[in-house]
Amino acid sequence: MSDQMRIAVLVSGGGTNLQALIDAQAERKIKNGFLCAVVSSKEDAFALSRARKAGIPEFILARKDYPISRQYDEALIRLLDKIGVDLVVLAGFMNVLGPDFCSKYKNRIINVHPSLIPSFCGDGFYGLRVHKAALSCGVKVTGATVHFVNEVTDGGAIILQKAVEVKDSDTPESLQMRVMKEAEWELLPKAVSLFCEGRLQIEDGHVRILE
Ligand code: GAR
Repeated sequence: MSDQMRIAVLVSGGGTNLQALIDAQAERKIKNGFLCAVVSSKEDAFALSRARKAGIPEFILARKDYPISRQYDEALIRLLDKIGVDLVVLAGFMNVLGPDFCSKYKNRIINVHPSLIPSFCGDGFYGLRVHKAALSCGVKVTGATVHFVNEVTDGGAIILQKAVEVKDSDTPESLQMRVMKEAEWELLPKAVSLFCEGRLQIEDGHVRILE
């Protein structure tokens, strides 16, 4: 397993996207990589139980213990250095990473966002807020995006996107669930595998998927 990519998953909440990665790994759908650590910014995140159940080493680095975000990023860098990580996956990680972290892991951080970027993204758009904004705008279609992370919130190169229908009867919660089921849980493991297989090439800020 030594030449396989080491994947650390950063979480803050329920961890259904982490579960999608765990399931994909069990089904051998993540080629050339394995989940080597789960790091939570919240000590009571349910995602930690999912990691434990799957036998993946878990770490807590509580955001509330660091008043300044730069200090948090530095602690995260130290932890990931110790673990040894090739790819950082943000799976419902509710913190913005600063320029030092982004440059240290340039083109090696992948995030899943619950809208079709560039709609409903950027600072302040996370979790249910994204779906509330989509519903109040009256869009008929939304979706999910998996992208590389740079210093611009939700501004990095797009890897995969999938559209999801919005229904008249939707609440933010029902829309969130449909976007997860129909798009996020499918796209994130797929993008992670493509990365580990060395099939993602970035040119002029655009991702090309190699055959
Ligand atoms: C997911 O919908 C994810 O796309 C979103 O939070 C949810 C986390 O769910 N992330 C963001 O909004 C980041 N900007 P999970 O903990 O069950 O994977």
